[in-house]
Amino acid sequence: MGRISLTRYLVEQQREHGRIPGELRLLIEVVARACKHIAIAVNKGALGDVLGNAGTENVQGEIQKKLDVIANEVLIEANEWGGHLAAMASEEMDSIHVVPNRYPQGEYMLLFDPLDGSSNIDVNVSIGTIFSVLRKIGHGRGVAEGDFLQPGRHQAAAGYCVYGPQTTLVLTVGDGVAMFTLDRETGSWVLTQNGVAIPEETREFAINMSNMRHWAPPVKRYIDDCLAGRDGPRGKDFNMRWVASMVADVHRILTRGGVFLYPWDAREPDKAGKLRLMYEANPMAFIVEQAGGAASTGTERIMDVLPNKLHQRVPVVLGSKNEVARIATYHAGP
Ligand code: AHG
Ligand code: MN
Ligand code: MN
Repeated sequence: MGRISLTRYLVEQQREHGRIPGELRLLIEVVARACKHIAIAVNKGALGDVLGNAGTENVQGEIQKKLDVIANEVLIEANEWGGHLAAMASEEMDSIHVVPNRYPQGEYMLLFDPLDGSSNIDVNVSIGTIFSVLRKIGHGRGVAEGDFLQPGRHQAAAGYCVYGPQTTLVLTVGDGVAMFTLDRETGSWVLTQNGVAIPEETREFAINMSNMRHWAPPVKRYIDDCLAGRDGPRGKDFNMRWVASMVADVHRILTRGGVFLYPWDAREPDKAGKLRLMYEANPMAFIVEQAGGAASTGTERIMDVLPNKLHQRVPVVLGSKNEVARIATYHAGP
């Protein structure tokens, strides 16, 4: 059958499965093109003067890296004029970016973490871009932050791009998960895996162990039981990985199973966790569920959380279905 491009995959999703309207197809193609531009900047590294700090802070109080700012600009510029969007929201912008009046407005809203894994940029470790697509409720030109505050189960599409040894785009439009690899010679995204399925069982976990002393008791008990290995209650030895780029950790889980945790911890007790619901947890939860895995806060399905603000944080437990269910029992238990 030959190579299937992203364009062809999307046309078939539109024509044969009736899953996506033309406007959403355009939106995904535009995001994928923006990711290609970001990939080029990432690859240039020191040669392109893209490493290091931008000298600014974002709304979360994090120092912005040059690539955080570049990736944000690339995504905004690419998506502003096509007529497919009403507004955008980003980790790197305090408030929403409404499509300017000089352009037509579409029915969709795009949220993104333009550059995930910022601490890995300067050390040449995999980083990525995460995105989530929502439909605007109600018609007319007006759009406000409140329009974005929908639970993750309402997402029309979600995806991420990982800039690693290969540049890979992972996508769901609610019909399973497809992976596309960037062919740098032809500049096209080629379908390299369809119907991605996360193994239900695992013996590999991902968590930042340096925070152990700050964890809540259920998380501590779960990891203690994993560490006890063959002689402990789990009866098997566990392996550990932590890339510190959510995209890379999730990509490994989609490929070979595993469980990823970024729980609430007592360092900043007023914050629900580190990761952001709307543009990190929700899109990853949608992808993971579409691949047969599960995504939970520990006590609730992530995609059922009703957001109350754009940059809201949430505890994250996602990956192999049976392991996520087991972690939920630690949270429910005495
Ligand atoms: P970002 O670079 O977009 O701020 O996200 C970083 C996130 C996530 O990708 C990763 O899993 C986590 O932060 C790593 O956190 P620690 O440095 O605390 O391990
Ligand atoms: Mn991130
Ligand atoms: Mn980021």
